[in-house]
Amino acid sequence: MDRFQYIIKLIDDLNEIQDLDLLLEKILEKARLFFNADAGSIYLKEGERLKFSYTQNETLQKRQKSGKLIYSVFSIPIDENSIAGYVAKRYLKYNEKTVLNIPDVYSLPEDLPYRFDRSFDEKSGYRTKSMLVVPLINNRDELIGVLQLINARDETGKVIPFSSSDEPYILNFAKAAAIALEKAQLTRSLILRMINMAALRDPEETAEHVNRVGAYSVEIFEEWARMKGYSEDEIEKKKSILRMAAMVHDVGKVGISDTILKKPGKLTAEEFEIMKAHTYLGARLFLQDPKSEFDIAAAEVALNHHERWDGKGYPGHVDPFTGKPLPGYEEKGRARPKKGEEIPVFGRIVALADVYDALSSKRCYKEPWPEEKVLKEIEKNAGRQFDPSVVEAFFSCLDAIRAIKERYKN
Ligand SMILES: [Fe+2]
Ligand SMILES: [Fe+2]
Repeated sequence: MDRFQYIIKLIDDLNEIQDLDLLLEKILEKARLFFNADAGSIYLKEGERLKFSYTQNETLQKRQKSGKLIYSVFSIPIDENSIAGYVAKRYLKYNEKTVLNIPDVYSLPEDLPYRFDRSFDEKSGYRTKSMLVVPLINNRDELIGVLQLINARDETGKVIPFSSSDEPYILNFAKAAAIALEKAQLTRSLILRMINMAALRDPEETAEHVNRVGAYSVEIFEEWARMKGYSEDEIEKKKSILRMAAMVHDVGKVGISDTILKKPGKLTAEEFEIMKAHTYLGARLFLQDPKSEFDIAAAEVALNHHERWDGKGYPGHVDPFTGKPLPGYEEKGRARPKKGEEIPVFGRIVALADVYDALSSKRCYKEPWPEEKVLKEIEKNAGRQFDPSVVEAFFSCLDAIRAIKERYKN
């Protein structure tokens, strides 16, 4: 396959990923591979600023224990003083698609308006040298961000400048990336809007909470699925669906009355019974007219995120449309709770991610628990509330979980 064919195929591959975070990850992965770059970052335009949204760095990732890079999210103004800002500004002001190909960011000619910010290198001990920077422009000619590739390498791994023959390719690459990104941003904002609607009713379901639950779920799933021998292809496909499905676990709360949702004290037994309905009310929203695998997964998560491994959860084997027990599953006038592997795995995973986040966050009735106490609680509940293999997966990716917690702080 030649390099142009590769980019055409890339457009298909990227369009399959609907989730924004996973798409950013994939874009950088593919770009670094294509241009043999050690590192890279993506900035997304947010209002008048560029938000540093995602980064990869092979050298630093190898240095730390867990494979995923821990980094902070920050934003910079769109002006000519920074490298990414310059590329963005040139497009906004003059409609120029500038490709910056810099052999060494430490020796930029004095007459250039932009400077390289060395603070990251100073903190991490990394030496950023060559850089290839390009604006991300969508089909409607709007700037949506900046893609920055860092430290091209030769076959021996030595850092070299990017080749000038790379420049036309990176423009095409950026085009493919921008189109996929725009779509994913749209999907993400629709989901967030749906969640905001639920948050109007239940102040606990904030955008940060659902973002964390989504991101935790994906990490846990990835680890769990590898343990169970799933193929990398299968894992990739399911990750993107789970990321979004996990975010909407509680949207069924739009169907629960305010007097119950916003009640300050403990719910009475009767009120709690009503509250339980948010599971199948949520599932119903997605099953009314299921259009995609996402709808099916979202329904699965909404319906099953309060089931327990030991069979003491809710709502059990119910028909989401009626809330009544399914035929053959009636027990003392109610639905028999699901247990063990009767609970679909997305439900088992989101159950843990949701509880982990609730315990580690401040809620109106409690302060965040210290991490040690949270972890003990989860361990104690392996085989009771939670699937032991899901708990095992959770502990094997704890570093990544902690990084997500930092990233989506309230
Ligand atoms: Fe819930
Ligand atoms: Fe939740």
